[in-house]
Amino acid sequence: MSNTNASPYGTLPPASPVAARKPISLPRLNELRARGEKITMLTAYDATFAAVADAAGVECILVGDSLGMVCQGLASTVGVTLDTMRYHVESVVRGLQRVQGTAWIIGDLPFGSYHESKEQALRSASVLMQAGAHMVKLEGGGWTTDVVHFLVERGIPVCAHLGLTPQTVHALGGYRVQGRGDSANKLRQEAMALQDAGASMLVLEMVPESLSTTLTQELPRCHTIGIGAGNGTAGQVLVMHDMLGINLGKNPKFVRNFMLDQTSVQAAMAAYVAAVKDGSFPVNAEHAW
Ligand code: KIV
Repeated sequence: MSNTNASPYGTLPPASPVAARKPISLPRLNELRARGEKITMLTAYDATFAAVADAAGVECILVGDSLGMVCQGLASTVGVTLDTMRYHVESVVRGLQRVQGTAWIIGDLPFGSYHESKEQALRSASVLMQAGAHMVKLEGGGWTTDVVHFLVERGIPVCAHLGLTPQTVHALGGYRVQGRGDSANKLRQEAMALQDAGASMLVLEMVPESLSTTLTQELPRCHTIGIGAGNGTAGQVLVMHDMLGINLGKNPKFVRNFMLDQTSVQAAMAAYVAAVKDGSFPVNAEHAW
């Protein structure tokens, strides 16, 4: 069988070196964690990059609302709409279908799309699930617990997001480390409540490595995915543009440019997967607090 897919625009990425892998599902992610293998996640927002990430062995593709900044040129994620998210989820889903990709697709619920009521959250989540997402992500603790429970009860897998939650950047006063000192306990309570509500994944962004490691031990049913949260989480995520070194702004401290030693985007993504799996990324002293 040919290893490439011809298209009028050139050649799509070679079939995945992990082509034999089973489609990624929640039970499969549970298996990875149970055997101590780290879960890998990258953002992607379009068909081609999603297919390349899948071919590189990335397990989870997050169609993040970070696309507001890296694709739309917005100053924050606050201006991203549900319709824009639906468009990008559909693009990613089609890209994976073209290459028989097997990655788990997470659609980010944008600012204002789940804040009014549980019913509004269900309507918004349904838009992304019907666009082809396997799971939705939402930000925050406290009041979101009821929303998570409501969605999970209705068969929608949910990834929560604590720590630096970019949709509330204005309330937080900037992109800064969260969960230090007294606020660590609050974050811990929120994480527990989210697991109890049925969240099966939890992104921990810019929190101290000691806190995210403790949380990972305390949350057996909810896989912690760190970004700027050190090496003790169940998995890692980066914004694709950051790890390819094409960020328009300044790269945060927790990012490594995986393109530096590679000659293709797919090789850089594969290097990221390998580094997360073998524990060489992130390095706590360099990328964490
Ligand atoms: O939108 C996004 O890309 C995210 C990641 C930073 C985790 O939420």
